[in-house]
Amino acid sequence: MKQSPFIYGNTVCSHSFTNREIEIKKLFDNLTGGINTMIISPRRWGKSSLVEKAVFEINKKEKTYKTLIIDLFSVSSEEEFLETFAREIIKASSTKWQDWLKSGKDFFKNLMPQIKIGIDPATDFSISFDWKELKIHSQEILNLPETIAQKKGIKIIICLDEFQNLSSFPDFENFEKKMRAVWQRQKMVTYCLYGSKRHMMTEIFNNPSKPFYRFGDLLMLPKIKEAKWVEFLCKSFKETGKSIKESDALLVTQLMRNHSWYVQQLAHYTWNLTQKIATKKEIEMALIELINANSPLYQKEIESLPSTQLNFLKAVVSGEKHFTSTSVMNKYKLGTPRNVSKNKITLVNNDLIQEIDHLFEFVDPAFELWFRKQFFHQSYLNI
Ligand SMILES: Nc1ncnc2c1ncn2[C@@H]1O[C@H](COP(=O)(O)OP(=O)(O)O)[C@@H](O)[C@H]1O
Ligand SMILES: [Mg+2]
Repeated sequence: MKQSPFIYGNTVCSHSFTNREIEIKKLFDNLTGGINTMIISPRRWGKSSLVEKAVFEINKKEKTYKTLIIDLFSVSSEEEFLETFAREIIKASSTKWQDWLKSGKDFFKNLMPQIKIGIDPATDFSISFDWKELKIHSQEILNLPETIAQKKGIKIIICLDEFQNLSSFPDFENFEKKMRAVWQRQKMVTYCLYGSKRHMMTEIFNNPSKPFYRFGDLLMLPKIKEAKWVEFLCKSFKETGKSIKESDALLVTQLMRNHSWYVQQLAHYTWNLTQKIATKKEIEMALIELINANSPLYQKEIESLPSTQLNFLKAVVSGEKHFTSTSVMNKYKLGTPRNVSKNKITLVNNDLIQEIDHLFEFVDPAFELWFRKQFFHQSYLNI
């Protein structure tokens, strides 16, 4: 049997990738044109996939550029960040590991890196510094890409995923200033900084009193359009010897409200359950499977919420707009008006809900379906 054409859970590059032509072009032009670019969207809408795709295109077409992508998701201190940053830049600067070993001598003035290399240099290469020295000379690391680029006559593009993670470091404010001061002077290096925590990312990049304000072009990544999804679903079914009607592909897309990860997941389950032609029956079974697979997460999410926040979510799915009106506060037991406004901010900042055209909705479409069933006994295929 053929493999499913739908992929979720990982970034998608080649065959499972759809649309985003405009964003790829923009990112390509910006990054090769020396314009730093920041990308913000809720998680799993496709930032990492988009950046990978753009970088892939750059590598293919622009040989004078060295590119690197660093995921900061699990980086938990300034020291770890600086070491990771240095290691990845050195690795990207040359394809020969022998060059990496020489980098201490070639590129550092104040710091003395300890370089270790294992049997497989590609995966087993580490660089570390004396912590005290590193603290004093962190600028040398922050400027390392420019140093290398100048010496080698190349240009470097650095993509930092989940950038907002840095803001949890102690003393981030100072570090933030330092990064900005060093990076903005660099001529041969361009940055792409992106992340999922919208609230934190906006605070870093869109607050006029913060150092990274106007660091570059700020891109709010939209969802992939419905029509594009329908086209992609129909085509992918067809290419693998199955089929789905346009109206059913539309149903899959709408159920998951164009959410990249979920459309792929629901399409994948539907495809798996389909012998030849997908119908509503397969879609419904797939939806149940999808929600069951995710429900432990949803359950956990709910259990961690204070009751006034849970009640606020109930008011949201019921389509309420005026949360501080007495009748709404009483009906859903939302607490005091102060509770209401605080809870609203907390739920938005935690990316549980978002405001679109003055109406709140769940950020996670499958979580919403589960929630409606759980608390309002609504069936999944209600739309
Ligand atoms: N351009 C795309 N075309 C098709 N599916 C996509 C696309 N971008 C993202 N996806 C789907 O969404 C999932 C999450 O994408 P990812 O790039 O990891 O999002 P983010 O970095 O915003 O969290 C992918 O695993 C894939 O299923
Ligand atoms: Mg990502």
